[in-house]
Amino acid sequence: MTSNPVVSFHKTTTNETGTLIVLTDETLSLGPAAQVPGLAALVQKAAATSDYKGKSLAILDILAPADLPFDRLVVIGLGKAQELVEGDWSRLGGTAMGALRKGETATFLAERADGTAISGEQLADIGLGAVLRAYSFDRYKSKGKNGKDGKNGKDGDSGKAPVTLDIVAAEAARAKKAWVGRSAVAEGAVLARELVNEPANVLGPVEFAEKAAELEKLGVTIETLTEKQMKKLGMRALLGVAQGSSRPPRLVAMHWNGTKAKDKPVAFVGKGVVFDTGGISIKPAGGMEDMKGDMGGAAAVVGLMHALASRKAKANVVGIIGLVENMPDGNAQRPGDIVAAASGVTIEIINTDAEGRLVLADALWYAQKTYEPKAIVDLATLTGAIMVALGTDYAGMFATDDALAGALSKAGEATGEKVWRMPLGPAYDKMIESKFADIKNTGGRYGGSITAAQFLKRFVEDGVAWAHLDIAGTAMGSPQTEVNRSWASGWGVRILDRLVADNYEG
Ligand code: BES
Ligand code: MN
Ligand code: ZN
Repeated sequence: MTSNPVVSFHKTTTNETGTLIVLTDETLSLGPAAQVPGLAALVQKAAATSDYKGKSLAILDILAPADLPFDRLVVIGLGKAQELVEGDWSRLGGTAMGALRKGETATFLAERADGTAISGEQLADIGLGAVLRAYSFDRYKSKGKNGKDGKNGKDGDSGKAPVTLDIVAAEAARAKKAWVGRSAVAEGAVLARELVNEPANVLGPVEFAEKAAELEKLGVTIETLTEKQMKKLGMRALLGVAQGSSRPPRLVAMHWNGTKAKDKPVAFVGKGVVFDTGGISIKPAGGMEDMKGDMGGAAAVVGLMHALASRKAKANVVGIIGLVENMPDGNAQRPGDIVAAASGVTIEIINTDAEGRLVLADALWYAQKTYEPKAIVDLATLTGAIMVALGTDYAGMFATDDALAGALSKAGEATGEKVWRMPLGPAYDKMIESKFADIKNTGGRYGGSITAAQFLKRFVEDGVAWAHLDIAGTAMGSPQTEVNRSWASGWGVRILDRLVADNYEG
């Protein structure tokens, strides 16, 4: 991984070397930054000979700026003040980081043209965006020889020295406080990306469980179930998926109790298929390498728990991840097999590639019987069908509870990790009726992400507020953004951290 940039907040400028970053609106006015001698005239002159019009996140890059002590001036547009939304601040931080080269030292005068101060929270979001943008997965790139040493934020670049970003703003003191929480979220998202990017030969179920167990250092209570323990509990749905792999499965429960009260926790459950070949219903070869990311749900849960514990969230939260590898083998599960999940529901396996729901069935059951959560959100790279329905900008959301769905939508809009609600209902339930068992694990050609969600609902007890997020389109391989240049996006950490902050703390 790239070394994290060093982000800090200051009330006044402390150094006058390296790069200066300033903001303008669409009238090219600089606000308080106009007090820097020579700056306003320089920006006017440079803008006149370029396309720069101060539009949102536009960049004007001036090398060796005349009359300034800095080596370089980067002007970034903020667009129209009234059109700014919350998510723009992290995008701004990402844009600034994207303009910087390795080892560069930058001073960012974070001032708005109209003179209104950028708040501490907004400044912290700039820092969050900067850290997220700086991440790239380059562990396996040989430094110097085959690896390139390109600009920041390009996946696969190697040998980058950390960038130092001094954010200078009136609300620096408040920003420093907010940064304690925001940098925890940045770290959590980076951790999720690391887990998703890591190939399956390195990260099997056991290794993944060990990574999750490292959260113990942050005060998270860890319980890891082995195959034997899962057998005892009757988790035949999860175990049926795992039986084709030579690597044994794990189920990890991570408990963060940030409240004194013994209130019921909120539970986050993640699909952790470290590699999905499809099993006996094997997938085609093209693109199968992407299935190393089929543990994106579990990675998000680990990243979230990391964020919550490091910012000492005042909430009682449990994360549960089911870790398996779906392989074809002499011992693998067959289409036609019938298994009983731990809840007692019997499942006819129609397609061994519909394995995520089998893993989640037992993980959801375990979450409920062990912790009696007041709400459950599961995340899973569950279906290709969700990409057909929604593309890669929104995750699919299925929910039994309108308040939880509303809270997730709101947290999604605020953080830029957006969700779109999809239906559940008895008509879809009919599609998963089995000839021989209680239910079958696929529902036919149409509505594939909905029948998958409907399957999961069979493992959620009546009255429990539950939401399922299908992140197959957003967790990996989604288009690059201002805050992500890596294949894995770490999707889920930011929206769920926000969900907890706004609904379950204090
Ligand atoms: N892990 C896949 C879903 C997936 C596909 C995630 C592409 C990310 C990118 C899942 O286990 C799967 O194979 N689903 C099948 C279900 C089908 C067999 C009913 C699918 O979507 O084709
Ligand atoms: Mn599959
Ligand atoms: Zn899968």
